[in-house]
Amino acid sequence: MTARGLRQKYFDFFKTKGHAWIPSYSLIPENDPSVLFTNAGMHPLVPYLMGEKHPKGTRIVNAQKCIRTIDIDEVGDFTHHTFFEMLGNWSLGDYFKKESIKWSWEFLTSPDWLGLDKKRLAVSVFKGDEVAGFDEESFETWKDLGLEEKKIAKLDRDANWWELGGGTGPCGPDTEIFYWVGGLDKVPDSFNDDNDLWVEIWNNVFMEFYKNEEGKYEPLSNKNVDTGMGLERVLAIINGLDDNYKSELFKNVIKKIEYISARKYDESEEIRKSMRIIADHIKTATFIMGDIIGNDFGIKPSNVDQGYIVRRLIRRAIRHGKQIGMELEKWTSEIAKVVADDYKDIYPEINKNLNSVINNLEEEEEKFSKTLENGLKQLEKLNQEAIKKSEKFIITGREAFDLYQTYGFPKEMTKEEIERVGGLLINSDEFEEELKKHQELSRTATVGKFKGGLADTGDETKKLHTAAHLLLASLRKVLGDHVAQKGSNITPERLRFDFSHNEKMTEEEKEKVENLVNKAILDDLPINCKELSIDEAKESGAIATFEDRYDDKVKVYSVGQGDDLFSYEICGGPHVDRTGELDHFRIKKEQSSSAGVRRIKAVLE
Ligand code: ALA
Repeated sequence: MTARGLRQKYFDFFKTKGHAWIPSYSLIPENDPSVLFTNAGMHPLVPYLMGEKHPKGTRIVNAQKCIRTIDIDEVGDFTHHTFFEMLGNWSLGDYFKKESIKWSWEFLTSPDWLGLDKKRLAVSVFKGDEVAGFDEESFETWKDLGLEEKKIAKLDRDANWWELGGGTGPCGPDTEIFYWVGGLDKVPDSFNDDNDLWVEIWNNVFMEFYKNEEGKYEPLSNKNVDTGMGLERVLAIINGLDDNYKSELFKNVIKKIEYISARKYDESEEIRKSMRIIADHIKTATFIMGDIIGNDFGIKPSNVDQGYIVRRLIRRAIRHGKQIGMELEKWTSEIAKVVADDYKDIYPEINKNLNSVINNLEEEEEKFSKTLENGLKQLEKLNQEAIKKSEKFIITGREAFDLYQTYGFPKEMTKEEIERVGGLLINSDEFEEELKKHQELSRTATVGKFKGGLADTGDETKKLHTAAHLLLASLRKVLGDHVAQKGSNITPERLRFDFSHNEKMTEEEKEKVENLVNKAILDDLPINCKELSIDEAKESGAIATFEDRYDDKVKVYSVGQGDDLFSYEICGGPHVDRTGELDHFRIKKEQSSSAGVRRIKAVLE
């Protein structure tokens, strides 16, 4: 089965169960500062799981682009990757456990759909604790479907409870579905979650709780279902492959790497490892830099936030490229072209953004080459000093770490280079110790920085979201109707807003915009929401921001009404009820973002 076939089957199946398909959201969370990347299909849907109405109804299905960097160092084996697609279906306060489980079973086992052998399937359910009791309903539903009790494990919170890593948010017990990959003749009678040959393929989460700031669980007004199935993993499994990187979703990239390096993937485990790292990392970097159309977050390799991850991915890939002899200049962009082509049908945005992706990769390759050159020079200097003193050329782990800190020069290369000239790296552990200290520092900083999140919709982020509508309307009044939103990013502290406009704004223009927004706030205008078809919305004059993401029903938010209508925009929400809830609006900065796009940073204070 092809990836395309699998996605389509999944969508078609859930359409027969009344689900509306939605496109993947951006990889960069628009209004959630708590994480750098969308890391689960449910993540962009948090407001709807919390009770906000979704314009497409209460049953949703999609394939969501996801990135999980937590396991970045594990990449290199046959199953880990940082980018993946999650197939998901949701009930937003609609059906619950029984339907969800029955449909998963039908999709997996019916000959009309995936037709997997029932014998190779097993599940786990939540055994209960002080927050929520034993999930008897799921247990009984699985039994009714014919699963033997020995194939239904009752596990604790570590295994069968799902919540967002960030802390607060919708959450609940889950039931997980496993597939036996150890051969049909060797399927055990019972399920044991310690056995790696039982591979988790689907997770159905029953979200009826909300974890609050104090870590307490409150019941949600809605009982929701959130499911997730990893496309790469399932595709490999149903095609009988024992290595995700041999599936269609990596094959062409690996072929290109083989061609450029003139090595073979199956030559050795070492080569396989490097090729997997290169394939995964360049693919992920390409997806981040080539994110959605019309929402130009302009992520480039840098030293902060998402840009830092991109830089790390590219540099690690280049290092492994060197190890396996990828000499061709600008080879990273050759890989990106393959990724863009592989995904042109489902994620055409990569192709549309390909020029800037290629430029970014080429620039980064060049910069990193300089870094490596400087590091090598420094090492050579130290070597010469040792020779002068007739000493053996020795570098300690701590010195290697300094080289890494100052020049970004990787430890593996320090080691290789020293050994090449007959020297020695000693106390290598010191490097890891220093690195750990350094990482802990930056992690603490990151945790502090990303407090809050999409789940606390009641507070500052919601106000800033409403401020974004006032800002867009005011910009159009002051600068003209050519102004369109090109992206926004909201943290509890500030609003970042990108819009199309060719010139720097004058002080006077900025002041006019601020005054208009503040007048709307003082006027305490009501905010209303209605649901319309996209055509009705446009005909009635609503401004659409991310065209590509809409079809059928949309929500339109108006600020003010009648003669006082201030803003009228298609948007998923959420918003405050009246503009009077907002504090004084101030533009802190106005600068260029990319060609023809300006960026405003603003605060409510
Ligand atoms: N949100 C659930 C997961 O990511 C489905 O596994």
